[in-house]
Amino acid sequence: MRLGIISALQEEQQGLVEAMQGPAKLIHGMREYTRGRIGAVEAVCVLSRIGKVAAATTASMLIERFGVTHVLFTGVAGAGHAGVRVGDIVVADSLLQYDMDASPLFPRFEVPLTGLAHFQTDLYLTNRLADSAERFLAHDFEATIDAAERGQFALGQPRVHRGLIASGDQFISSAQRINALGEALPGMLAVEMEGAAVAQVCFEMGVPFAVMRTISDNANEAAATDFMRFVSAVASRYAFQIVTRFCRELET
Ligand code: ADE
Repeated sequence: MRLGIISALQEEQQGLVEAMQGPAKLIHGMREYTRGRIGAVEAVCVLSRIGKVAAATTASMLIERFGVTHVLFTGVAGAGHAGVRVGDIVVADSLLQYDMDASPLFPRFEVPLTGLAHFQTDLYLTNRLADSAERFLAHDFEATIDAAERGQFALGQPRVHRGLIASGDQFISSAQRINALGEALPGMLAVEMEGAAVAQVCFEMGVPFAVMRTISDNANEAAATDFMRFVSAVASRYAFQIVTRFCRELET
């Protein structure tokens, strides 16, 4: 296995590259790829930057140029469902591009000429990832995020959810908009800007993939402020703990 690990922003992956054994850096297409090991897993870490094109390009490069056999995306997302709160973790079972609409030629959300709107994640990777996230919350959460920070972000007992993540080239910061999307996509748990693009590339290339998102905001009018605070203060520690755990447990 060679695992490609993508995040959009530095804060979503901070610490992982530093934790790699035998890191080697290579710059290609305006992105820095770091090859090395996390535990016994051979990995390539990269920041895609924000948006579906950036993410799709990065996933393609990882597969074609860096020979990754599996892909993991880790980052933050806005809550897309009433039961999903800031600090919760969403592990995707499937992903969809909510801004794909070639109707009336094709049904809304369907990626034309694929017959698909939903792209399923790999069951094995997804099960392992959800398990690593559950164990992080059960055993390491309180030591990782101190009481003051938990209070500041009103993080009670965060939970792991599994289900649909919707992606589009928009930062959603309107209650009306997120509610309308939720009505159009029952079962949608979170919104972000990259996952479904990575999913389409991996599907087309036959590469197993998984996506994990920590909820940073409620995709409402307060989203931009909440997002900035959460990303700089908390996001990297969630990702670091869960991804290193995931890599350790993949070996076994
Ligand atoms: N990523 C984190 N929060 C988001 C939001 N509200 N909209 C889109 N992407 C996000």
